[in-house]
Amino acid sequence: MSPLDALPRLPLVNAPTPLQPAARLSAVLGTEVWFKRDDLTGVGLGGNKVRALEYLIADALRDGCDSLVTGAGPQSNWATLAAVAASRHGLEPHLVYYGPPVAPVGNHALAELVGADIRFTGSTERTSVDAGIETLTRDLRARGRRPYALPRGGATPLGSIGYLRASGELADQFDEAGLKPESVWLATGSCGTQAGLVAGARMWGTSYRVTGVSVSRPVTECAARVTELADQAGRLAGLTDTGADDVEILDGLAGSGYGRPSAAGTEAARLVARTEGVFLDPVFGAKAMAVLVDRARAGRQRGPVVFLVSGGAPTLFGSPGTSLPPTPSDSPERRP
Ligand SMILES: Cc1ncc(COP(=O)(O)O)c(C=O)c1O
Repeated sequence: MSPLDALPRLPLVNAPTPLQPAARLSAVLGTEVWFKRDDLTGVGLGGNKVRALEYLIADALRDGCDSLVTGAGPQSNWATLAAVAASRHGLEPHLVYYGPPVAPVGNHALAELVGADIRFTGSTERTSVDAGIETLTRDLRARGRRPYALPRGGATPLGSIGYLRASGELADQFDEAGLKPESVWLATGSCGTQAGLVAGARMWGTSYRVTGVSVSRPVTECAARVTELADQAGRLAGLTDTGADDVEILDGLAGSGYGRPSAAGTEAARLVARTEGVFLDPVFGAKAMAVLVDRARAGRQRGPVVFLVSGGAPTLFGSPGTSLPPTPSDSPERRP
């Protein structure tokens, strides 16, 4: 058995998720674009994080854990999907959100619906969640529980195996469609998804580039995280060679803060909705698409491009910026 197949995995994803040509969008952009529909992974309202959770929940169950502790902001797709998958498989979900308590809308409402125990750090610093997870995990242990703690975004080498494995799914679909993509594009946040795709491209010896659009961190920080996680995930899966220059990150913040919709993102999401009937979320997908649209329109993007539609539907209905600190340029009128 290969090291990859030996890793415990709980099948959660309705795999393979569809790979679809985006013909009308391609015609507008003058670049051939395809969608990998990981908004349809099939747990909760779907999304990329379900692939990481296949390995993380399996690991928690194998360790005999009875609860799961993680966190992020109240509109985190990761936190909700972790709570949904945990609760569905008998692990009590505990979430730590940064910021002061806010009304439950969007993801926060869904996390409540599945019965997650939710606490707020009171601090608008995203890093306050890390200490909150540690404290809560310690408290649960002191009460005789067996918690499984996961960092924001589920960005661990084991979590990245989800997209390492998905790269095999992509390779089969590309063969079947006779498609040789120039690049696979995605929105990058905590970096685990891109790391998995990078390690997977190494494992399957594919010829496409993996292009991440960073929507929450500076490009250099993101590149270092992707590189480290990809190497670690690759080793877990039995890869000995680590890549050198196969990590490409573009800036997707373009002046907007993490979690705040941007004008270019909103326009890109409208274009995709109107040409393809696919809804991109404002925090991740829309901003990544905005960069792709910009490059394609400027004639700087060769195709075919495969764009990972990574989910985030709950934030279409939430209010993604509600628990974020205002930025100096942020007038109350402009705040989402
Ligand atoms: C909808 C969506 N797309 C993309 C990402 C980015 O994934 P990662 O955090 O693994 O970089 C996230 C992260 O939460 C997400 O929720």
